[in-house]
Amino acid sequence: MNSSLPRLADLPAAALSGKRVLLRLDLNVPIAGGEVTDDFRIVSSLPTIEYLRAAQARVIVISHLGRRPTDTLLPVADFLKRSFPIRFCPAVADLESAVVDLPAGDVLFLENIRRAAGEEENDDGLARILAAAADLYVNDAFASSHRAHASVVGVPGLLSEKGAGFLMEKEVRELSRLLDPERPFAVVLGGAKISGKIDALLALARQADVLLMGGGIANHFLRALGLPIGCSLLEEERVPVARQVLDLCKREEKAIAVPSDFVVAKSPEDTAGARTVGISQIPS
Ligand code: 3PG
Repeated sequence: MNSSLPRLADLPAAALSGKRVLLRLDLNVPIAGGEVTDDFRIVSSLPTIEYLRAAQARVIVISHLGRRPTDTLLPVADFLKRSFPIRFCPAVADLESAVVDLPAGDVLFLENIRRAAGEEENDDGLARILAAAADLYVNDAFASSHRAHASVVGVPGLLSEKGAGFLMEKEVRELSRLLDPERPFAVVLGGAKISGKIDALLALARQADVLLMGGGIANHFLRALGLPIGCSLLEEERVPVARQVLDLCKREEKAIAVPSDFVVAKSPEDTAGARTVGISQIPS
């Protein structure tokens, strides 16, 4: 971990007591029918929130959710309310006044930061508004930290007091182990979000003994091998990375596998029409 980013555990409670702490979390969780359907990210974030509350910090939680302007964090706020009371702040414009009377140990929860103009552009004006509401910045949003957004990059650039939360520390510790892994070392990678992941794959491939590729990532390998993938998820500009990984495996005699068969359908919703085909039989 960057040595200039202190660990939250190294910040004594006295340094946090009464302070306004802007806590960037990744609470981008699946929601259906207004309910959280997978609470893993929320539960994983609780130790950092609880530590700050116990230290009598005034906690301002910021997260994004989804990619549509209508996506709301209200179901996540309701979920968190089961653990402790929270105040919901509907917009960045209300943040400054909402923080003024936030008692020590309490949590203010800001609506989806992606709704704020300038978040994704790392707008300096937005970063300044957010930073002005806080004394300290804590990043516990590992899964969002590859985004050069205002709440991830802009705000910590403006606040001198900052630190890494417990989840961030854990993620970095676990990933660091992969730089010098125990052997044999197999990498199993899948998922729909290709960018970011596939780039890490190249670094992991250099270390791995065996690579097992699934999900959307596997499509890039099929394409690189000249196999049909129909209308499956693909980021064409990432196919060269798959090619590089294949070349590396050949050169260094590493085992790499993609699935031998696939479930195909006309659309993800077409469950009735779904069938299993071999790797070279995916229809257009
Ligand atoms: C994720 O779920 O991968 C992170 O929350 C980042 O979300 P994003 O890809 O929409 O920035």
